This record gives sequence, structure tokens and C-alpha cells, in this order.
Amino acid sequence: MSKDLDTLLKEEREFKADPNLIDQSNIKQWMNSHDINDYEELLEKSNENIEWFWNEMAMEMEWFKPYKQILEWEHPHAKWFLDGKFNIVHNALDRHIKTWRKNKVAYIWEGEDGSVKKLTYFELYREVNRLANALKNMGVKKGDRVSIYLPMILELPIAMLACAKIGAIHSVVFSGFWAKAFQERANDAKVKVAITADGFNRRGKTIELKKTVDMVIDNIPSIEKILVVENIGLEVNMEEGRDLFWSDVLKKEIAICETEELDSEDPLFILYTSGTTGKPKGVLHTHAGYAVGTYTTLKFVFDLNDQDIWWCAADVGWITGHSYIVYAPLLMGATSFIFEGTPDYPDPGRFWKMVEEHGVSVFYTAPTTIRMFMKHGEKWPQKYDLTTLRILGSVGEPINPEAWVWYHKNIGNHKCPIMDTWWQTETGMHIITPLPLSDLKPGSACKPFPTIQADVVDDDGNSIVGDGGHLVLKNPWPSMFRTLYGDPERYVEAYWSKFPGMYLSGDVARKDEEGYFWIQGREDDVLNVAGHRISTAEVESALVSHPTVAESAVVGRPDILKGEEIAAFVVLKNEFQASPKLKHQLREHVREFIGPIASPAFIGFVDDLPKTRSGKIMRRVIKARVKKEDVGDISTLSNPESVDGLDKAV
Ligand code: PRX
Repeated sequence: MSKDLDTLLKEEREFKADPNLIDQSNIKQWMNSHDINDYEELLEKSNENIEWFWNEMAMEMEWFKPYKQILEWEHPHAKWFLDGKFNIVHNALDRHIKTWRKNKVAYIWEGEDGSVKKLTYFELYREVNRLANALKNMGVKKGDRVSIYLPMILELPIAMLACAKIGAIHSVVFSGFWAKAFQERANDAKVKVAITADGFNRRGKTIELKKTVDMVIDNIPSIEKILVVENIGLEVNMEEGRDLFWSDVLKKEIAICETEELDSEDPLFILYTSGTTGKPKGVLHTHAGYAVGTYTTLKFVFDLNDQDIWWCAADVGWITGHSYIVYAPLLMGATSFIFEGTPDYPDPGRFWKMVEEHGVSVFYTAPTTIRMFMKHGEKWPQKYDLTTLRILGSVGEPINPEAWVWYHKNIGNHKCPIMDTWWQTETGMHIITPLPLSDLKPGSACKPFPTIQADVVDDDGNSIVGDGGHLVLKNPWPSMFRTLYGDPERYVEAYWSKFPGMYLSGDVARKDEEGYFWIQGREDDVLNVAGHRISTAEVESALVSHPTVAESAVVGRPDILKGEEIAAFVVLKNEFQASPKLKHQLREHVREFIGPIASPAFIGFVDDLPKTRSGKIMRRVIKARVKKEDVGDISTLSNPESVDGLDKAV
């Protein structure tokens, strides 16, 4: 095992599960009704027969036509609930309308400016139906792709649900991505319609979204119509015959629309995520399996019930928002809180003020946010009444034990368990995670969810305990992605080829003697900046598209707050000179190309990048120098003097 995969973290603290929470939990009640006595037995029984477990959960959904087969696993291709007729929207909305939940609040939304809107299940259902009819009138049919490029407003889940209702495939592009990133994703999915907004406010500043689309629309030939939400009343350019305002279109539509009876395996959405090459990967999820997986995990991990106010403080533009703001909470008939803005605006008490005012009881955020709150100090959460909280969650990156303990004490008042959930865009649902039954170790995501066979293996694929290694999954789960859109070979090659029979997560982890998993981070050239996956190759290709840049290498640099920040080394074309002004221009260029999250925190100008004799950039050397570590063996370098250049630049 290479030294890079070794692990340094050894955390000894343990927090016992609360017996009161266990007794009332959904998972315990489910175990009682299935004659299962404890956590070990639950894992054992569900692992022995994964089809039994998932069949039980699938039966909590409504099917237009029951499935005939639970699973078909022809490695690495899985199909779940075969021959069933299903639609996730029928389960997320339509079925609730027939029950007392009809008038239950589905979403409480708060804008950055403090305004609050509430939408009941019935109101949400009617809006979705209107938009679904409108999409049909715009020519959208089953299987067509629709790009959704919206900020955190209620129209975003409405748009996703309307697509799914009629069998169209949505592809949400995070509103923090900018023009070129939107263009690339929309082109890859060959979308027919785009749904966007005039703009939105972020930290008091106006971001113009329609204008961003206009910048690249001529390069996206497949788009026939653009639907524009009038969100903040910005003046926008509307092209006759192509661009339509949301309100104009929706007022013409009736609020009744049949839900398409789809096959279980029909695609639900494509969500692009970063891989090791510059081209983002279109992760494809399907209706039935995704519904069953996300529903089950939310029910058992976060233990939601009808009294809860659930707040998943992610952006819907990422998988966390897809699974745990939009689909799973609605499948459960829960009430979710959604916030439009950022955690520390207008001040670092904003989140806690909203927890108090809306009575949030289960709260899910990312370690970056927790570390930011730590920096601002305990005084901010202390100003507010947080006693409604009963369970907390963490996702997106490893949570360091100090942040875990701070969160537990200052937000959870020593009583709320922290569900540190490990999963990915590809997995769709929580994979390694505590349950309310688990004794917790700060910094560990605990054990695999029932039925999941996760493991840590060495370079030869042998299971190992105690040392760092590759985190792999050895069997299928219902909400696993089915392929990469338009690139089935890459699906096999990137995820299923390194070790026979195993899904390669791309993460490094350690498994301790008690079977707890400790995730260390990515092992490939993917950065995790504030919980967001960004590929080094994507930033590099943005940089080299600038007219002054000949070559660039991007690596992650450890950062206390964000986990990792982006460090870029740039070789300029001969005729250009390094300057602070150019540095600024390059940052702006990356912002425009990908979005603000990808803008390098550090840019160093160098004459040469360290390369092997075959011309491959040796990132290992660059990473070591950025961390001010020893570069190790550099005998294969063709240009050892480049290391001095790196040192001067950092
Ligand atoms: O490196 C892991 C990290 O986030 C990656 C997945 O990123 P993405 O597909 O954008 O999905 C993020 C939200 C699910 C993983 O490969 N990651 C996610 N959750 C954790 C984590 N790392 C450590 N602990 C976690 N709980």
C-alpha cells in the first residue's frame, strides 16, 4: 500500500446511542415488526438477503403495476423492480393528495431577504401539474432532456417534479456554475428546453442568470425553448418564439395532469459530476430504484416523522439536494425547510435564527459550514433557542473530530446524534452512515447501511483492516446510478474495472477493528472544495483556454475551512509576462468558465512543470511541494530543476 493511502487519524472518543431515541425510531419499529433484536442482527439479516430487505421497502411505495423481479444483477449493470410500472412523482405527490397530508405543508421557504413562503402538498401538486402541462405544450415528451438552471427557489423542485411527472429527464445545473459549464452540460445531454430565471440575489448582490444563458445559447443548438422565472424582476432579453415567461405560460394551464406510467428503470435525471478528466460525467438515475433507496435512507437514518421539520441545508443543484430536499422528503410526506441564501448572511447567526423561528428538528449540513461557524464562535448559536433539534447530519467531506464535537455541543446541546453520511452522486443515497441505533465515533461515518457490502482493499483488491486503502462496494443497491449518460464505456472503465466485481468509489478510507469506516478523502484527481467535487482537469482546461496560458497543473491545498482549496501552477506562453493583474484575470476567467467555486485560491507562475520522461505531469511532486512536504523519489523526472521553480512560486 502506497504511503499516500496511509491514515494518520486515530480517534478514540465514543458517544453512546440514546436509548430513548432508539426506542421511538423508525428503524427500531421496523426491526420489531420483523423480529430483529439488534443492530448486528439487522445488518446480518439484510446482508444475507438484500432482495428481501429492498422488497420490504419497495412495498411501502405505490406501483401502477407490481414488479415481477426484485433485482437483475449482471455485473456491472443492475436493474431493480423489473417489469413494474412506477413514477416517483406519483409517490412524492399524487398519493398524498388522497390522504390527510393533502393540506400538510411540504415546503417552508425563506428567501435571503427574510420573506417566507409555504406550499402545501396540494398546492405543490397543482403547480407541478400546471408546469407539466406547459412542458407538454412546449413539445417535451417522455425521454426528452430538460435543463434546469435555477437558484434555490420553489420553482426548482416544481420544475424537477414536472419533468419527472411526464417522463422527461431533468438535468439540473447548479446556479453557481456559469456560462461555459451550463453550455457543456446542456450540450452533452442535448436538452430540448431550458428552465432558468431572470436572476437572483446572493449576499445582497444580483446574479443575472438569463443573461448567462444568453451568453452561450448560440452554442447550444438543441435548445428550442427557454422558460424564464421572473424571480427578482430583472429586465431580460426575450427572444420572440423561443423565450417564454413562466407566469405567462402557467396561467394558461390547468392544474390537472395525468402522471405518466413509466417502467421502473426509466431514467429520472442526469446530474453532472466531476471525474478525473475535464469532461463532466452525466450520472444517470432511474425512477423506482432511486425512489426506494432515498426514501428508505431518509426514513431510517434521519428518522423523519410527521412532527419533524426537516432542513437539508444543501443546494438542490447537487445530489444532496436532489435526494434529500426534493425526492426523499416528499416521498415520506415530510415538511422541509428550504433556505435561499448563505449561512453567514447577513450575520453568522442566520442559520440558528431560522432553526428557532421555524422549529427545525432535524438538520443536515456540510463540515465546511460547521467549521465556518466554529470560526465565528459559540456566541452565535447561543443567541437562539435550538432545543427543537433532535438529530443532526453531516455530508460532503470528512468531518474532523474537532468540528464534530463542536457541532455536537454547540448545536446539538450534547444530546443530538450526528449522522455523518458518506455517499456520492453516483450512489444516490447514503451508503455508509450511522443509524439512530449506532454508537458514534467523531470523524467516522460508522457502518454500511443495511444490505451494503462496503470494504477497504489494498492495491491488489484484498480486504484490509486498520490501514488506509481503496473504498469499494461489492454489491448493488437500488438507487445506484445505471450508467454515464452517452458514455457507457466510461461507466465500466471508471468505476468497475480496477478490481473485479467491485465498485470503485475513488475515496481512501480505513476500517477499524469494530468495522467502523473512516473516510480520508479522494484518491484521484478530484478535489473536494467545501464539499463540492471539482476535477483538476476541468480547472486546468479552463486555464489553458486563456490566451496567455501554455500549460497548467492544478492540485488541492489543505485548507482549514474548506477542506481543500485550489492551487494552480501556470506556464505562460513566451510572449506574456507574469503580473498580479494577469493573476486576477486568470481567476476571473476560471470563474466565468466554470463558476466561482472553481476559482483558484492560489495561482503560481512557473517556467516549467515537473514531468516524467514521457511528458506526464507529476502531480505527486506538485502536491508535496504545495504542502511543503518532501517530494520523495524524483529520479523519473525529466526536469528536476522545475521543483525549485515550484518552491519559488508557493
Ligand atoms: O469524497 C467523498 C465526499 O464527497 C464525494 C462525493 O461527492 P458528490 O458526488 O459531490 O456528493 C457529495 C454529497 C453526497 C465522496 O466521494 N464525501 C461525501 N460524504 C462524505 C464524504 N467524505 C467523507 N465523509 C462523508 N460523510
